[in-house]
Amino acid sequence: MRHFRSFALVLATVAGFHHPNLIAGSPVLRTQRGADSGKHDHANIGFELLINKAFLPSDFDQEVFDNLWQSWPASLRERAAKASVGERRAMAFERYGLTPRPQQDRGNIVDGKRDLADPGKPLQYVVDDHGNWTMNCFSCHGGTVYGRPVPGAPNNRYALQTLTEEVRSTKFRLGKSLGRMELGSLVIPLGTTNGTTNAVVFGIGLMNYRDDQLNLVDRPPASFTHHDMDAPPWWHFYRRPYIYIDGFAPKGHRGLMQFMLVPENNASFFADHEDDFQKVYAYLSSLRSPSYPGHIDQSLARRGAKLFESNCAECHGTYHHRTDAESIAAYPNQLVPIEDIGTDPVRHRALTVAGREHYARSWFAQSGGPERRETITDPAGYVAPPLDGVWASAPYFHNGSVPTLWHLLHPQERPTVWRRVNDSMDESKVGLTVETVPRVPLEKPDVALRRSYFDTRRFGKSASGHDYPNQLNESEKRAVLEYLKTL
Ligand code: HEC
Ligand code: HEC
Repeated sequence: MRHFRSFALVLATVAGFHHPNLIAGSPVLRTQRGADSGKHDHANIGFELLINKAFLPSDFDQEVFDNLWQSWPASLRERAAKASVGERRAMAFERYGLTPRPQQDRGNIVDGKRDLADPGKPLQYVVDDHGNWTMNCFSCHGGTVYGRPVPGAPNNRYALQTLTEEVRSTKFRLGKSLGRMELGSLVIPLGTTNGTTNAVVFGIGLMNYRDDQLNLVDRPPASFTHHDMDAPPWWHFYRRPYIYIDGFAPKGHRGLMQFMLVPENNASFFADHEDDFQKVYAYLSSLRSPSYPGHIDQSLARRGAKLFESNCAECHGTYHHRTDAESIAAYPNQLVPIEDIGTDPVRHRALTVAGREHYARSWFAQSGGPERRETITDPAGYVAPPLDGVWASAPYFHNGSVPTLWHLLHPQERPTVWRRVNDSMDESKVGLTVETVPRVPLEKPDVALRRSYFDTRRFGKSASGHDYPNQLNESEKRAVLEYLKTL
């Protein structure tokens, strides 16, 4: 099956398409120019903007980052005290789920002097020349695929809550004033399990203080349904007409700017940065999923393909098309009512009809794109996402509650409390390598460690539902699992 993808790539190359493709699993930013170089340049600039341009006030400075280790639990702190600068940085990256920037071609650098290989700068934060660190989209949307940093892969290790708490105590110690994250997190939880965040509520909360044209308005604080979500990968963005798990928002560059809704950014800030976000949009649209690096049993996968076709494709679409246009046309954008899908319903309720109506009237929804799609203000449930590169985006479901594809295919066997034990792939189950425990060990002194456990009994974290795989017998499930590796 793999040759389909290479064939498409050859065609794309001949036609002069050069995407920042994730070829053979290794992220490569291509720089050759072809007939479509305009589109390609925009995508490259979009990537550069995300890692080099701060769209928010900065979160903390280099001095704070370099002193975070003093807030760690005793055993780690002792190790850090003896470590070299590089080792200590690696420990901090590990603790907070940060990664180095992948080394890439340095063809189209915005100002020609950035070093993508600078080990001090993570993919997830913009670090300017004065040492100011500012969160960027990659903090949630740029992670590792089984140990290798891949921009656009969900950051399933991001420890935003722990980082923010330790930035707060470090700023106290250094006598620095607190920023919006350290203050905001006193009233809004940022994420209770590493790799997931309360991101949707950040957006709803901030939108509460804006009118339709994004002017700041005085309104009483609203109450929110806090819940954590696992960020979706960006490599299927190009196939989706609507985004988010409930598919309510038509895709457009303005919609991508919600992330910048902090009070410091006024309405004109958004208009002034539209051009940048057209390039970010081009970058997201240019991404494609990585290919499975391990062994695939091709004849088993072919059997799985037929089963997928008859049991899953109606919702998830079909794969291995020759052109982008065919791939887009083959994705059905299928909305499944919440009672049919049966996965955790909290996200569906958390975004209210009134909230979606406010979005629909707002500047964000008026992208004026060629398609002019309407916002769906009352979606009945969740939309089946495209499954491109699904082997690389564990854990599964919108709340990240299921650690492997095997568990997804075996609803009765999904673990109640689990924790990742290392960064390698569980190749037989295809997903995270996890241990299952009866409960989260609350007696452990390091709260950060507790956040490495996923407890499916907690609010918004259920791993139930999506029982469709039960139509298959065990050997059929085995075949479908093999097929999923080829996507
Ligand atoms: C704090 C974490 C976080 C940050 C930072 C963040 N996102 Fe997201 N993003 C999410 C989560 C969680 C979702 C899923 C929301 C949902 O489906 O309701 C999401 C969804 C999306 C989607 C929809 C994908 C799909 O297939 O449905 C896009 C596109 C996106 N984000 C782009 C961005 C861009 C661009 C930025 C930076 C400007 C950004 N995000 C910053 C967490 C984040
Ligand atoms: C009736 C429509 C429907 C059918 C049939 C269906 N799915 Fe799904 N699937 C969904 C929806 C909706 C979701 C999103 C659920 C959520 O995140 O809460 C989903 C999620 C998934 C995911 C997780 C994706 C991710 O990134 O988290 C996988 C994998 C998946 N389905 C595989 C399958 C397979 C394999 C089959 C066939 C055996 C199948 N599905 C049949 C609707 C369907």
